[in-house]
Amino acid sequence: MNILSPSLLSVDFNHAADDIKIITDAGAKWLHLDVMDGSFVPNISYGAPVIKAFRETTDAFFDIHLMIDEPIRYIDDFITAGGEMITIHYEACSDVKTTLEIIRSKGAQCGIAIKPGTSVSEIENLITEVDMVLVMSVEPGFGGQKFMPEALDKLKQVKRLANEKNHSLLIQVDGGINKDNARKAVASGANVLVAGSAVFSGDKAENVKMLNELINS
Ligand code: DX5
Ligand code: ZN
Repeated sequence: MNILSPSLLSVDFNHAADDIKIITDAGAKWLHLDVMDGSFVPNISYGAPVIKAFRETTDAFFDIHLMIDEPIRYIDDFITAGGEMITIHYEACSDVKTTLEIIRSKGAQCGIAIKPGTSVSEIENLITEVDMVLVMSVEPGFGGQKFMPEALDKLKQVKRLANEKNHSLLIQVDGGINKDNARKAVASGANVLVAGSAVFSGDKAENVKMLNELINS
């Protein structure tokens, strides 16, 4: 079963609780929460208090994507707010291993994300230390960007490494995913697909159903 993780970066924040209900009723089991600090990425989104408020509206699995410098400082906050998967950026940490260990020790699953300019070989030795690898298919910072097809090769590399190491791994792709490229991403190894604008533009429930069917057919 491949997983759709709708990104709430594209939600209408005035109606977030209603929209969360619409997309989870339509079959979304995960929600992707993009945290941006205006330093690691050139945009600011929201932090732990907002995630805590979302948490009160739903039982969906909370997949938190931390686009912040030195996330080690805030792991506790995001787990307390309801994070179940905490993904940090390889490029944002001075001590990646310790950051991952702290996430694990506090009872959450951990993921490692790489930007388009970071090669898979740089995180090769971390693959067995994580529950999920996130391959960015846009420069992190904004929703609504165009999918970078170079990500497909990186997904294949991650998948090959996970197989070689016999490690059961979630492989997430994030950025510009839509009905035209979702199946290619799955064919390349992705099993968790983030979609922001493709879910929230138009009929949200229909989009969730259509994407879920597409990635599982
Ligand atoms: C970008 C974020 C993404 C973004 C995806 O930095 O990490 O999760 O919300 O949005 P779309 O699907 O519109 O590219
Ligand atoms: Zn994201």
